[in-house]
Amino acid sequence: FQRALSRQDLSGQTVLVTAGPTREPIDPARFLSNRSSGKMGFALARAAWRRGAKVILVAGPGSLPTPGNIERINVQTALEMHEAVMQYAEKSTIIIKAAAVADYRAKEVASQKIKKEAIGTSLELEKNPDILLELGRKKRDGQVLVGFAAESSRLIEEGTRKLQAKNLDLIAVNNISSESTGFEVDTNQVLLISREKSENLPFASKEKTADLILDQVVQLVAKETI
Ligand code: CTP
Ligand code: CA
Repeated sequence: FQRALSRQDLSGQTVLVTAGPTREPIDPARFLSNRSSGKMGFALARAAWRRGAKVILVAGPGSLPTPGNIERINVQTALEMHEAVMQYAEKSTIIIKAAAVADYRAKEVASQKIKKEAIGTSLELEKNPDILLELGRKKRDGQVLVGFAAESSRLIEEGTRKLQAKNLDLIAVNNISSESTGFEVDTNQVLLISREKSENLPFASKEKTADLILDQVVQLVAKETI
């Protein structure tokens, strides 16, 4: 119903969206994770579906309902997210990486709960693959790659650096030092940086922000197909 009322400017596109945190187990009772509710990624998936795209949503742990008629793959860890994303990346024309991927995982995962006396005060970590960096390296002609960045300072500099380093077409920079624009809440205010311009989107709901980001994506798709 909602789909019928929307402009179908993403019809014919296959959009892969990642959302939510990843969870890196330490033992059966403990994990490492990031602060992310998944709301921004789910809003993007829903908006892309409403605008006519075929949508694949790779979702980290969380309890948000699947928006619209979209294919959802649930994952826990960064390694699982990596595998799912690589499986679907090639056939996707637009990839949006809104997930908050844990940068590190525990080097060893204990199969039994570690007793607190035995844990000690340090935990050996191993770096997770940077999924977005790999997507940027493998990006094929015509594919549009969108990243996110969570920053508490130097938003333009860090956003631009990540846009270039990861070979992105667009990056949405989130100011996580403000309570109304960061984690768990329904509102957001992002700085959107492309190769050509940067623009501060208005303070708005995550639904509205998703549509504004997709407006830019539609323009980038049009440019790629000229
Ligand atoms: N990302 C990813 N795989 C990782 C880490 C990050 O795909 N292992 C993606 C995120 O989904 C996001 C973008 O990279 O779209 C930026 O994430 P962010 O945490 O802001 O940047 P990092 O490159 O991890 O740098 P840092 O955490 O040091 O700021
Ligand atoms: Ca990170």
